[in-house]
Amino acid sequence: MKTTAFLTLAGLFTSVRGHGYLTIPSSRTRLGFEAGVDTCPECSILEPVTAWPDLEAAQVGRSGPCGYNARVSIDYNQPGDYWGNSAVAIYTPGEIVEVQWCVDNNGDHGGMFTYGICQNQTLVDLFLDPDYLPTNDEKQAAEDCFLEGELKCTDVDGQTCGYNPDCSSDEACYRNDWFTCNAFQASTNRGCEGVDGAALGSCTTTISGGYTVTKKVKIPDYVSDHTLLRFRWNSYQTEQVYLGCADIAISGSTSSSTSTSTSSTAGTTTTTSSSATASSTCAAATTISVTFNELVTTTYGENVYLTGSISQLSDWSTSSAIALSASEYTSSNPLWTVTVDLPVGTEFEYKFIKEESDGSIVWESDPNRSYTVPTGCSGATATVSATWK
Ligand SMILES: *[C@@H]1O[C@H](CO)[C@@H](O)[C@H](O)[C@H]1NC(C)=O
Ligand SMILES: *[C@@H]1O[C@H](CO)[C@@H](O)[C@H](O)[C@H]1NC(C)=O
Repeated sequence: MKTTAFLTLAGLFTSVRGHGYLTIPSSRTRLGFEAGVDTCPECSILEPVTAWPDLEAAQVGRSGPCGYNARVSIDYNQPGDYWGNSAVAIYTPGEIVEVQWCVDNNGDHGGMFTYGICQNQTLVDLFLDPDYLPTNDEKQAAEDCFLEGELKCTDVDGQTCGYNPDCSSDEACYRNDWFTCNAFQASTNRGCEGVDGAALGSCTTTISGGYTVTKKVKIPDYVSDHTLLRFRWNSYQTEQVYLGCADIAISGSTSSSTSTSTSSTAGTTTTTSSSATASSTCAAATTISVTFNELVTTTYGENVYLTGSISQLSDWSTSSAIALSASEYTSSNPLWTVTVDLPVGTEFEYKFIKEESDGSIVWESDPNRSYTVPTGCSGATATVSATWK
């Protein structure tokens, strides 16, 4: 803990960096973080490069469209154990979907961000093979294709588009100090609310806490069982570009019956992943931070809790159950989440419950869910992904 606190302070006082990453749909970076193998998801940075005012001048090099995190030596352009092997979201052609990234509180550097889909499957396939790392030339060719396949903010009717490449260089918005409360140079109250007006901590970063930046994009008329949505942020104040991607599918028609990947967003499947692999050189953890992600559609006034058979989960109490947060909840990804530190090896049963606005409790259906906290190295984390049943 002391080390973490020190690094956090060092980040605040010595760094003038922006920091951010794609969170919805779950980017490869986010999955790497949730699996515990990436300790700074907002730190996949292409630098130093010319990021401004020519938004496309920077060659992506090793970073590629999916990002390279030099802090932890992870190249997200190649599928790994925890990302890249299947679609995390399924869209339909022409659908308007909510997307989100998370900007760190110390990352008050303006600039422009954009999303893209490359419609050349041959190029994208190079990024979907767990046994192949694309070359820098292939990474650049793909990025050129993502830039060509930009999902313009203005394609979404009624959306405010003041800080993306649709804003032209002769307009005032081209400076884009868009997530400052005052202005870039203000001495107080800077960088306070992202562009959503969201609270600090509304999304997770490891440096100073994050603010969500939510937008809508329009999925193009293109079909693919497995492709990528690429996020790119060109910083205005620092010589940095942030790149990341999420694995998605665009399914031909809403009525098509047998898409194999639909189980990830429907039904009651529970998947678990864990980074808690044993290593001969690590200090064994006594507790593991377990993140419970539950997809459950709620209405205003409803809240979601977790209760279960151990004291950390309130011994099946409904009145002192563990509250989940809806800070990352969107209509296309109705995520409620909470992270609990649990002793390694603990076996327990649990359920999610909904509290209605009138205080009544709705339980998930039987059987009880069960889980065993993995063992692992100190600092390891685990994630439980579930859908309301
Ligand atoms: C897709 O990319 C490959 C590799 O760069 C290229 O050879 C091919 O012509 C492209 N296909 C289309 C339809 O542009
Ligand atoms: C779930 O756990 C509760 C509390 O231990 C128990 O009363 C209930 O019977 C369990 N449900 C099933 C279906 O096993």
